[in-house]
Parts: sequence; structure tokens; C-alpha cells
Amino acid sequence: MTKRTIPVAPFDLVIFGGTGDLARRKLLPALFRRDLAGQLPPDARIFGAARRDISGDEYRLLADQALLEFVPVGELSAAAVARFLARLDYRAVDFATGAGLPALADAIAVSPRDIRAFYLAVAPDQFARACTQLAQAGLVAPGSRVVVEKPFGHDRASAAALADAVGAVFDERAIYRIDHYLGKETVQNLMALRFANEIFEPLWNARHVDHVQITVAETIGVEGRGAYYEQVGATRDMVQNHLLQLLCLTAMEPPVAFEAASVHDEKLKVLRSLRPIGAADVAACTVRGQYRAHNGVPGYADEVGGGAHAETFVAVQAQILNGRWSGVPFFLRTGKRLRARMSEIALVFRPASFHVFAPNAGPAPSNVLRFRLQPDEAVQQVITIKDPGPGGMRLRQAVLDLSFSSDLGLGDGELPDAYERLVLDVVRGDQTLFMRRDEVDAAWKWVDPIIEGWAERGLMPELYDAGGRGPDGAMRLLHREGRAWRDIV
Ligand code: BG6
Repeated sequence: MTKRTIPVAPFDLVIFGGTGDLARRKLLPALFRRDLAGQLPPDARIFGAARRDISGDEYRLLADQALLEFVPVGELSAAAVARFLARLDYRAVDFATGAGLPALADAIAVSPRDIRAFYLAVAPDQFARACTQLAQAGLVAPGSRVVVEKPFGHDRASAAALADAVGAVFDERAIYRIDHYLGKETVQNLMALRFANEIFEPLWNARHVDHVQITVAETIGVEGRGAYYEQVGATRDMVQNHLLQLLCLTAMEPPVAFEAASVHDEKLKVLRSLRPIGAADVAACTVRGQYRAHNGVPGYADEVGGGAHAETFVAVQAQILNGRWSGVPFFLRTGKRLRARMSEIALVFRPASFHVFAPNAGPAPSNVLRFRLQPDEAVQQVITIKDPGPGGMRLRQAVLDLSFSSDLGLGDGELPDAYERLVLDVVRGDQTLFMRRDEVDAAWKWVDPIIEGWAERGLMPELYDAGGRGPDGAMRLLHREGRAWRDIV
């Protein structure tokens, strides 16, 4: 593989929530790895900011421990770590009172960079206040940009209020709404494959595709986030953002160019073409599930303590009302505590229109084009071939595997984490892999009636065994039409 790293311009990045989980697990390791790759200019500075009153040295120690925990040990040369830690500083900041922001402004004012990025890795209910406080403290300069993490609101109305509050301080072109699924290598490869290869486009439509399955299966439970999860459930946590973004990239028309406005325009058209699902058809088109204790693994109700109402699994049969996808169901499913960690987009093609082989050659099952996002990233094409060797014509399935890590000579952990790409895109000022305000709004517009429909119909989550395949209802969603989910493996 040719490794190309294009250094970015000098920047100041402030991570609010700098001592938190996201910063430790993802942001600091991502920045370290980009530094290691030689992409950060010598004078780029990174400030951690949080309520905790610690010194710069204590913050560097915290960052050092985070690197030890979350970066492969082979990458942690003492020199590289020391160089990275020297970029870091810390200021205690409290958005409730604005305390600490003047000190942060003073620290940045010492040789400020043209590019200033504020990463709000804080609870969403602080986004609005944080933006106002940043402006009041005089921190928002031309060239400033803000990064917000999902969830963007709880429903369409709250998302609009939040967007107004952030938009009162930052121009839309300075707002980076992160959906880390868009930074995943295979997701970007989906676009390369579609738009840089002539062979796929003629097949990418209702004439050839029978249906599409998008699965994000996790083995983990709610991981101590029970209170948060009980408020959101899998639909707000995963479907409104990650799964709908994957659906958009799979279904969208070719953008005019691979740049932010064109890509956002095309994704928006897909979201606006989704057939609405409301109280009348939630029971037919969706399935809610919740894991229960099984084989010594606790159930969701045990983890959150009584009153567990949220769904930890959801499956939806979506339909895109446009010429390309007319009549092609898009089946989405995501769940926690399933039997394996597996995320993929699978296009299941129609069976061959005419079978020229004798019946004893065996069937020619549908072709599948599969984009595997996790755990290992790959693109695979399931095809039918002749069973090798003598014995006449017998058909069998084979998988053409373009597994990035082995076929492209990449070792374990060499593919960049989504955050590496996305954080540097913020610095570069490239919004292509982020979400625009109208996309977030359109996604809520489709999701809200589903959630309201469940409430109206009193549809409670169907229980499934922890470590299983999800609720039976999800199986029936496909079986009733003679289709089947791909295995979660
Ligand atoms: C987050 C959700 O956005 O994505 C989590 O809030 C989920 O609940 C996570 O576990 C999954 O991300 P990944 O990259 O591990 O598939």
C-alpha cells in the first residue's frame, strides 16, 4: 500500500470533555497516531479542557495513560509519545459559569493559529451553553470551527432548537456534526467502489438488486450507560444516525463531485424519499427487541435496574420511493448483546433470470455484494462458480474477498480509526464526511413517527436472549417475504 499523509496547516484544537471517555479512548489516540504518521505540523497545539482542576502535567499524565491503554504498544516509541505530549496543555473550564474560559483564551492568544477547532466531547445538554460561552469569552474567531457528537437532539423539535443555538454562534460551514461511521474505511470504500468502477453502476438499482440488508450487531451491552440508553434506545442511538447514513451512502445518486455540498445534497434526497412509517404500519415494518439474561449474561433490565423500557434491538423495513429503488426493501437492524460483532451492508441481487444448467447441477443462489465494516474491514462478492474438478457441472458458492488487511498488505491495526480521518478533516475544513443540519432534520422527521407509533400502539420490546440472534419478530420480518437475514458471524 502507498501511504500518503498530507500534513495539515498549524492548528489549535480544544477538546472540551478532555478528561472523558471519548477523549481518552478515541480522540487522543487518533491525534497521536496522526502525529506518528507525520501529519501534524510541529506547532499544532491541543488543549484539554474539563471541569476537573488539574495541571498541564497531570493532563499529560492522563493522556500518556490513555495512549498506553488504547494505542497498540508497538506504536508507542518514547520519542513519539514525548513529542505528542509536548503538544498538550490543559485548562479547567466550567460551562455552567464560564469559569476558566478567559484563561483558555489567554493561553490560545499566545501565538494563536489561523485554524481553531473546538471539540465538544461533552453531554449534549451542554452544547448550546458551550457555544454561547465560547462566543462571550471572545474565543470564536474567523477560522474557528466546532465539532459536535451525536445525539443531535432527542427528536426533530429538540434537534432544531439545538441547531439554532449552535447556529447562533457558528456558521453552518463551521459546524462539524460527527457520525463516526462515515469515517470508517469501508464506508468510504463503498463510495470509491460505486463511483470509480463502471461495472457496478448498471447493477445498482431495482432491476438487479432484490433487497439490501444493513446490520450493525454488537456483543456489548449498555456498558454502564443504562440511564442514557433508557432515554434513547437503539433507534435514537444507532438508527437515526449511523444506520441511516449507511443507507444514504448505499442508495444515493452519484454526487456531482466528491465534496461536501454535493454529497450532502444526495444523501438528503434519499432521506426525503424514505416512505414514512407511522402508527398504522409500525407493527408491520419494525421490530423492537430487548435482551434478557441468558447463560450467565445479565439482561438489560438487570443492568439498568427496574423500569427498562428502551429497545436494545431494532429492525426496520424501509422503502425508498424513487425510480432507482422502487420496490427494493432496505432492511436495517442493530442490536446489543447479539451473538457476534458484525457490521455490514449487503446488497442481495436477484437470482439469475434463467437457469441453463441441469437440475442436478444445484441451485444458483443470489449474488451478494457485501461491505463489511466490522470487525475486519472487507469487500466481498458472493458468486456462483463451477465446483472444481471432474464430475460434471455442479454449482457452488464462492467468495471473492478483498480483505483490506491481508490483500493490501496491511497489518493489524494499520487501518486508520474513523476518528483519525474525521478529526483531521475538521482541521482541513472538509465537511464531506459530516452531517449537514438538513440531513439531521430529515432523519428525525422519518424516525420520530416510528417512535411515536410504538407509543401509540403500545408496542413493547420483544425479549431476546443475550448472545443470540435477536428477537424472532425480526426473523419473521424477512421470512414472510421469502427472504432471510444474513447470519451474524
Ligand atoms: C455509538 C453508540 O454511537 O456507536 C454506541 O452510542 C455504540 O451505543 C457505538 O456502541 C458503536 O460504534 P462502533 O464504531 O463500535 O461500531
